[in-house]
Amino acid sequence: MNPTATTQSYVEKLHARIRGARASSDDLFQIVRPKALYDRPIPERHRIVFYLGHLEAFDWNLLREPLGLASFDPEYDRLFAFGIDPVEGALPSDQPEDWPSLENVFRYNARLRTTLDEALRSIAAADPRLEHLGNGLLLDVAIEHRLMHTETLCYMLHQLPLERKLDRRPVPSPATRPRVPRKVDIPAGTATLGQPRIDNGPFGWDNEFEENRVDVPAFTIDAYNVTNQEYLRFVVEGGYSNRSLWSDAGWEYISSQGRTRPIFWMNRGDTWSCRTMFDEIPLPLDWPVYVSHDEASAYAKWIGKELPSEAEWHRAACGTLDGSERAYPWGAEPPSPRHGNFDLRRWDPTPVGSFAAGSSEFGVADLAGNGWEWTRTPFAPFPGFKPFSFYPGYSANFFDGKHFVMKGGSPRTAACMMRRSFRNWFQPHYPYVYATFRCVER
Ligand SMILES: [Fe+2]
Repeated sequence: MNPTATTQSYVEKLHARIRGARASSDDLFQIVRPKALYDRPIPERHRIVFYLGHLEAFDWNLLREPLGLASFDPEYDRLFAFGIDPVEGALPSDQPEDWPSLENVFRYNARLRTTLDEALRSIAAADPRLEHLGNGLLLDVAIEHRLMHTETLCYMLHQLPLERKLDRRPVPSPATRPRVPRKVDIPAGTATLGQPRIDNGPFGWDNEFEENRVDVPAFTIDAYNVTNQEYLRFVVEGGYSNRSLWSDAGWEYISSQGRTRPIFWMNRGDTWSCRTMFDEIPLPLDWPVYVSHDEASAYAKWIGKELPSEAEWHRAACGTLDGSERAYPWGAEPPSPRHGNFDLRRWDPTPVGSFAAGSSEFGVADLAGNGWEWTRTPFAPFPGFKPFSFYPGYSANFFDGKHFVMKGGSPRTAACMMRRSFRNWFQPHYPYVYATFRCVER
């Protein structure tokens, strides 16, 4: 959010990023057949139509007052204001007919975008440093909010039956090469979490502040994420029926759901397959396994290890032998396609270890993209946390001990969220996330 020397271009640049994010979300909705837009692919979430309105209403509710604009539909502003994340098992029960028609939603969206765009064009001359918008902070929030939803909508659309969506051509994946599981020793050192609070400094969400240093004792970590092949052994050797491997809540959840395998997997007899975004294919054994925190924790316990803490993950990703720390696992260079499988280029994972240029100094692979990585750290504020006044519940509503931190990113995570301070979180039983894991031991 730092205005550059040519302040006009600063506004234009942010506006262009907004349009780019809109193009990404518009493109994603295009894969849903119109008759499926009122479906609810994930029981714990709203129907798809909610998100159609939410992405626009969020921007509108955030920017309307600072831009001096009047609401033209307060009912829709409220209806599409917030998503849901029920923690006590209560599921939404609304019906398709409870939602507005597509025609009305599209009309609301179009008017709202036009009004916002006109206001942003005129403010560029009157307020080139965007002081009315927190020096641009509010636009960064709008951009990243939309990009995050563009990813989580993929989790939702992944669960939509194949016949309810339109196919897309797969993007070629790097060639498969056998990777022998490898462990890396990480010496004791410091991990710097978060980022410092600086006026007009780099953008971060409220939970990324403030910077804090953690002493991390020596540990050993897997160089690669746990693969489908490794996890398959856990499945066929009874991992899902071994009560001792699961937390009480985790056991209760998989028992109540009758779960015996990851949600992305299917099996017919001894034949295993997995559902990708647009297909069902034989289980790719060298892809990272996508599982919930409960499933990852049970696997780790089964092999006598555990998930890394958030600080251990940081140390393995950004630490170096001389004690300094890197901006990204590979160094200071901005994220690019050679560093990993992220930034919405592919719909699905690639084999583990496909991006050697993205490895950390310690030789740990795939720390950016190809699947978020579960940590054993409950999502909690850093010392000095302050919620955003304009969005107080963004993080604080989830500091409940019922969500765990994930780091890294998935194939559908935008490059701007590869910054090392970015933190993601989900409930431990939630199985739909593009999340994998690696283990640590001492
Ligand atoms: Fe949202």
